[in-house]
Amino acid sequence: MKKPAFIVALDGPSGAGKSTLARELARRLDFLWIDTGAIYRCFGLAVLRAHGGVGAQRENILNLLSKLNICFQQEGSRIFLNEEDVTQAIRRPEVSLLTSELSAWPEVRAALLEYQRALALAAPRGVILDGRDIGTVVFPEADLKFFITAIPRERARRRQEELAAQGIFKTFDEVFLEQDKRDLADSQRKLAPLKQAEDALLVDTSDQSFQQVVDGLELEISHYWKDSSGRGF
Ligand code: DC
Repeated sequence: MKKPAFIVALDGPSGAGKSTLARELARRLDFLWIDTGAIYRCFGLAVLRAHGGVGAQRENILNLLSKLNICFQQEGSRIFLNEEDVTQAIRRPEVSLLTSELSAWPEVRAALLEYQRALALAAPRGVILDGRDIGTVVFPEADLKFFITAIPRERARRRQEELAAQGIFKTFDEVFLEQDKRDLADSQRKLAPLKQAEDALLVDTSDQSFQQVVDGLELEISHYWKDSSGRGF
């Protein structure tokens, strides 16, 4: 498999801050950023709209995979599904829950795996992918892997804040319970469960500011990037 100049895998549970970190790191390093959760979410949204959930015939749901036309714009921060900007729509709680369920389906993972690889392989310089199984399944040979986490209460607090910023108001307990449900589904599914790759560096962001974490990761990536066969800045 051909790989781009430099691959950074950022895995971890929801609310750990992966996407915000990945976006800022990609901006600083001039790498491509691929939010793989957003890709799964687009499929979740498409299923929700077409079938209202997973109650429909499995075959009809899977047929939607071949009709997905996903495109990232504005350095990965806006996502389009069949030419519609769905950046906000894919963050809605009902999409989160359905996506978590669908992402355990082998056919879904197989199709979206190829899609993620193809996007990353097109990167001219380097790429940062954030998700659940980047370092274990999508790119087990990634140049650098991080497992980003934070204590569950802190993740739920951030998630509640993030939802409020989008005009979605939920109690802390509601957010915490939903997160718990997703954590369980993500880490216990048979295929590509959320888990730290053996060679991933563990980063606990619970007690660190965003600035501290992003500065630390930038240093780490720059260090390895410089060391990797003269491909440095
Ligand atoms: O990171 P996120 O919360 O946006 O991810 C949405 C869902 O997609 C989440 O339930 C886990 C799933 N997902 C996955 O299974 N594999 C990935 N590489 C990324 C996300």
